[in-house]
Amino acid sequence: MQDEVPPVAFPAISALAAQELGAPLAGVFDAVDQSAIAAASLGQAHRARLNAVDAGDTGLDAVVLKVQRPGIGAIVDVDLAALRKVAGWLSHIRLVSRRADVPALVEEFAQTSLLEIDYLHEAVNAERFAADFAGDDRVEVPGVVWERTTRRVLTLEDVTAIKITDVKALRAAGIDPADVAPVFASIMFDQLFTNGFFHADPHPGNIFVTPVHPGTGGLPWKLTFIDFGMMGEVTASTRSGLRKLLIAAAARDGKGLVAAINDVGVLMPSADSAGLERAMTQALCPLRRHGLRRTARSGPAGVPRFRGGVRRRSPLAAVPAAGELPADHPRHVPDLRGVQRP
Ligand SMILES: Nc1ncnc2c1ncn2[C@@H]1O[C@H](COP(=O)(O)OP(=O)(O)O)[C@@H](O)[C@H]1O
Ligand SMILES: [Mg+2]
Repeated sequence: MQDEVPPVAFPAISALAAQELGAPLAGVFDAVDQSAIAAASLGQAHRARLNAVDAGDTGLDAVVLKVQRPGIGAIVDVDLAALRKVAGWLSHIRLVSRRADVPALVEEFAQTSLLEIDYLHEAVNAERFAADFAGDDRVEVPGVVWERTTRRVLTLEDVTAIKITDVKALRAAGIDPADVAPVFASIMFDQLFTNGFFHADPHPGNIFVTPVHPGTGGLPWKLTFIDFGMMGEVTASTRSGLRKLLIAAAARDGKGLVAAINDVGVLMPSADSAGLERAMTQALCPLRRHGLRRTARSGPAGVPRFRGGVRRRSPLAAVPAAGELPADHPRHVPDLRGVQRP
């Protein structure tokens, strides 16, 4: 819900939710806030209070009710049919079809869009994400109230806290914003490289910082993720390809880079890999010549200087070689020990 659109009037939302839940909202919840927290093209969210029975069953009280916009399924169907038509036309243009499989791209987009309007799928995603981080004190995920969840209505624990970009509120809660960024990066790394299941929409509207009373030695806050409509999966082989890619880029190894890109599976079968290897090697060549050993002489504070005055620093310069990581390496450094340097 980044792009705000006018909310649907509450009676229409309430009617759809009642139809989905099989009873009027007044009978299902103790209270539902008629004004939306947020509205976007797919649905809108309202604060609500569970009835005593549900509260007893779930241990929750304040919830957020996400209700789909009436008619959204039909709108998505029409849009997808139009996109498929355009993709069909484009696939007949050689200039396009030689470079990209547009119908496949549209199918992938269609699949993502259809899953995004299935809140049961979102609820399953939330629980899978929570399970991935079970036992990790840094991450929190709202509980799902399954009893009050359908394909078009999603009832979640209300986990409202400090927006991750609200520097003033963070400081007021005694949290240094500079401490939050590396933890966030580390958690995203864990999703991509360890769990293989990642939040594909991690913008500030979907992440809260939740102050907590720390146990012994833990952080005094957690990152709370919401909005699991769009998730990505990285298979074990893609994860291994991505690790190789990082290492090849760090080693400025053009051939290894192309091999890794191929492993990741993003090259078209018709791609000229020999040409690509030459291009990559050439592109990496200035980096190789101006290697980090020359840095001290040629650039300030470890920043190498390159022709044309561009200053770059390999973000991977700190990635250790296989076997160099200490046993207790910090969580935010991806574990690359199983990967051979190319
Ligand atoms: N579990 C929750 N607790 C607190 N606020 C929530 C929760 N779920 C959603 N919200 C609020 O509703 C907004 C929209 O919900 P979200 O799941 O992000 O939907 P969308 O997929 O349309 O972006 C969020 O930005 C947040 O403000
Ligand atoms: Mg959102």
